[in-house]
Amino acid sequence: MSDLEARVREVLPSVRADLEDLVRIQSVWADPERRDEVHRSARAVADLFTGVGFPDVQIVSEGGAPAVIARHPAPPGAPTVLLYAHHDVQPEGDVAQWHSPPFEPTERNGRLYGRGTADDKAGIATHLAALRALSAGGNALPVGVTVFVEGEEESGSPSLGRLLAAHRDALAADVIVIADSDNWSTEIPALTVSLRGLADCVVEVATLDHGLHSGLWGGVVPDAITVLVRLLATLHDDDGNVAVEGLHEGTAADVDRGPDWVRAETGLLDGVSEIGTGSVVQRLWAKPAITVIGIDTTPIAKASNTLIPSARAKVSLRVAPGGDAAAHLDALRRHLETHAPWGAKVTVTPGDVGQPYAIDATGPVYEAARTAFAQAWGAAPVDMGMGGSIPFIAEFAEAYPAATILVTGVEDPGTQAHSINESLDLLVLAKAAMAESLFLAALAPD
Ligand code: BES
Ligand code: MN
Ligand code: MN
Repeated sequence: MSDLEARVREVLPSVRADLEDLVRIQSVWADPERRDEVHRSARAVADLFTGVGFPDVQIVSEGGAPAVIARHPAPPGAPTVLLYAHHDVQPEGDVAQWHSPPFEPTERNGRLYGRGTADDKAGIATHLAALRALSAGGNALPVGVTVFVEGEEESGSPSLGRLLAAHRDALAADVIVIADSDNWSTEIPALTVSLRGLADCVVEVATLDHGLHSGLWGGVVPDAITVLVRLLATLHDDDGNVAVEGLHEGTAADVDRGPDWVRAETGLLDGVSEIGTGSVVQRLWAKPAITVIGIDTTPIAKASNTLIPSARAKVSLRVAPGGDAAAHLDALRRHLETHAPWGAKVTVTPGDVGQPYAIDATGPVYEAARTAFAQAWGAAPVDMGMGGSIPFIAEFAEAYPAATILVTGVEDPGTQAHSINESLDLLVLAKAAMAESLFLAALAPD
């Protein structure tokens, strides 16, 4: 083990304690009642980077959530690296289904459970560990470092464009490390080289201008829930492939998961089959996916024998790399507007779009990263696609076209990000921190 790896090991207990303190802050930006918590978490993050000796630490916002920008100037001739993570988290969901309180970090079997332990407070912890180890014993950092910790990623980063514009010079870097993705497994690291984009909309169907007695008129007049269900059913074919025309499909890398992987990782119930055709990675990384993520209609407790006049659903579409998210949203909208049965009225309200992104993972910076990852993990990193989305990557790439972007992360397939019982594998945190510190050291000029 190198001297640097030994120092990472030494700083990990303190970093873990800091991570636990961050997890105790309920930084759910999407919940208007908890915005104070997001401000508190921004201050806590700012203090952590002041604590590693960053001379310039600011909390900034542009009409959205507070973000932290912490800067350490580059030594002469050295590049500047931007280290990204986000300090906001998803809502905790059904607390009763958590095995320990969501905002009280709890260790079980080598994993730290709690909302944001992985997504993405572990990203902050990784940067902190690398910087603490590199500057231990009064050492100077080998490269310039700008830490950028955003506070509204889980809400689609609506003000990120304005933050980039307002702090364009402060955020400029030669290399951008985005620590917010997955690994192949707890034993094998990954560099994420493609992400799907995202588009969503709300579709409302109406058949009547008021509810009617279902006995007096049922069988003659259609109800809106039945119409909505039939409309949503047209979004997939019988194999479960997306049936909307004009969507892009690419080709995933030539790797695949084992035959039992999906069932093992997802808790798919016995007898329920997977959907879609093609390899698992083809479906997850290179094909579009459509999911109905919410429905507004009469709840069962309020159900009476009434034909419901209107109903709404929110539909989410993942866009394969190479596709354009706005064009995909148009295609989805056209499909919904033309597939409702019985002439029902359809209104589509377009929602958010985020572009997919594919990275050219070649060149000296990628070589340095692969060497550092292989050393820290004892296994070479896989070039991985990702079914999820980090839409702002495209914004960074546009703002800093000359920068090399690396998408790393501290999640693993067992993390359950966004779900109940989210957790971080503590050995993955250690390996990710070692990999990042070795990588930063390798970028120093000879
Ligand atoms: N960190 C995730 C993306 C991710 C998910 C990476 C799973 C690796 C594994 C990120 O925080 C996220 O949740 N992104 C959102 C984007 C949306 C809110 C615009 C997503 O994918 O739904
Ligand atoms: Mn994240
Ligand atoms: Mn997330």
